Amino acid sequence: MAIDYSQLIPNNVDLSSDRRLQRALENWQPRFLDWWKDMGPDGTQAYEVYLRTAISTDSNGWANFGFVRMPEYRWGIFLADRDPERQIAYGDNKGKPVWQDVPGELRSTLRRLIVTQGDTEPASVEQQRLLGKTAPSLYDLRNLFQINVEEGRHLWAMVYLLHAYFGRDGREEAEEMLVRHSGDPDKPRILGAFNEATPDWLSFFMFTYFTDRDGKYQLASLAESGFDPLARSCRFMLTEEAHHMFVGETGITRILQRTCELMKEHKTDDVRSLGVIDLATMQKYLNFHFSVSLDLFGQEASTNAANYYTMGVKGRFLETRIDDDHLLTNATYEIDTAEDGRIVKKTVPALQALNERLRQDYIEDCAKGVLRWNKAIERAGFNFEMKLPHRAFNRRIGAFAGMRISPDGRVLSAADWAAHEGKWLPTDEDRAYVTSLMGPAVTEPGKFAHWIAPPARGINNQPGDFEYVRFN
Ligand SMILES: [Fe+2]
Ligand SMILES: [Fe+2]
Repeated sequence: MAIDYSQLIPNNVDLSSDRRLQRALENWQPRFLDWWKDMGPDGTQAYEVYLRTAISTDSNGWANFGFVRMPEYRWGIFLADRDPERQIAYGDNKGKPVWQDVPGELRSTLRRLIVTQGDTEPASVEQQRLLGKTAPSLYDLRNLFQINVEEGRHLWAMVYLLHAYFGRDGREEAEEMLVRHSGDPDKPRILGAFNEATPDWLSFFMFTYFTDRDGKYQLASLAESGFDPLARSCRFMLTEEAHHMFVGETGITRILQRTCELMKEHKTDDVRSLGVIDLATMQKYLNFHFSVSLDLFGQEASTNAANYYTMGVKGRFLETRIDDDHLLTNATYEIDTAEDGRIVKKTVPALQALNERLRQDYIEDCAKGVLRWNKAIERAGFNFEMKLPHRAFNRRIGAFAGMRISPDGRVLSAADWAAHEGKWLPTDEDRAYVTSLMGPAVTEPGKFAHWIAPPARGINNQPGDFEYVRFN
């Protein structure tokens, strides 16, 4: 269905046919805007930003580019088209038509999943709210804002579901989305990684590469949900998410390129005195963001995950393309877990291992970008290899929580860990150095901060000196 932009809340769900729902959401809208002004990108209300806006939800040309003041961005409710033939692909309800409403017995489960997903969206906007002050270029500033408005829209997507399908409880949950704040000691966001600070652009690129990618995998498994409105919401969100990960991957590549350039020019890998980020520090940031993001997948063996699957609420990554019975009643899966302080392999019922399987899919996806980063380093003539640390490294959730494990997967004594931690994770000194590079925002079109290379091409094929943001 085409998106109706004539409405106060743009949508493709025929919102005007349900007056009550429409009024409830129109009530929430000003509160969302207040939140955006208080907690969104700081001091940017008057900026005009070259942003894309969805014009239709089908795959060809959904994006429309133009200059927009962010508070006037047309946040709305866009679901991927409904497939009237769609059936639940797995679990006890396999083969039955998908649900257009929430089955009573799944109400609290679905609500919790939607709230948990929804909570991450405004959280990341809050985490990134000061980055505009130190943007390395107008191109990067525009990308930051594009991601921010789209995370805002992802919140809209989840709030719509809460309002439309969960009655009073849902409306209350929608309010709470604007009350919890990232890093707030009293009312924190639900998940750990979304309470970490994103204080600099290296962290931002690592976050969009690793943590937005967790989002991709969570959304993809919810896109398999038997609750069709949730599945359709997530399908469209995934198309937006791709750009966020692109920003992360290319951002890291550009930093690596610039570092290698100076390493070559000055024939040294001791580049801090040259004002760029050394490869060892890049690796430490990677270690941190990867491990924090792995925690988001939850326990290695989980009866919750098994129940979600059996009930038809949350599937596997690309469920319908997997060649098996989609019931998994007799299947097994090998996981890494901990026993008596050691890392061991253990075969468990596949149903219980669904978190771990999703984490595995995620890790394989992460590795592809690392390969491309290493190609960039190699092309520059160096043989430094960036590596994903072992999945057990630096974990706070799951079987490895609290264990001290090196990036190559060795269990360490407390003393051993303490002696090496600063080589594996960013130290205060590393963070201070990276922060010291983050100068005032570079606002001259076509200019870039010293520590990062320009992108290979502009957004929507705009020229290198395009003025992506107009300050007013
Ligand atoms: Fe998102
Ligand atoms: Fe995202």
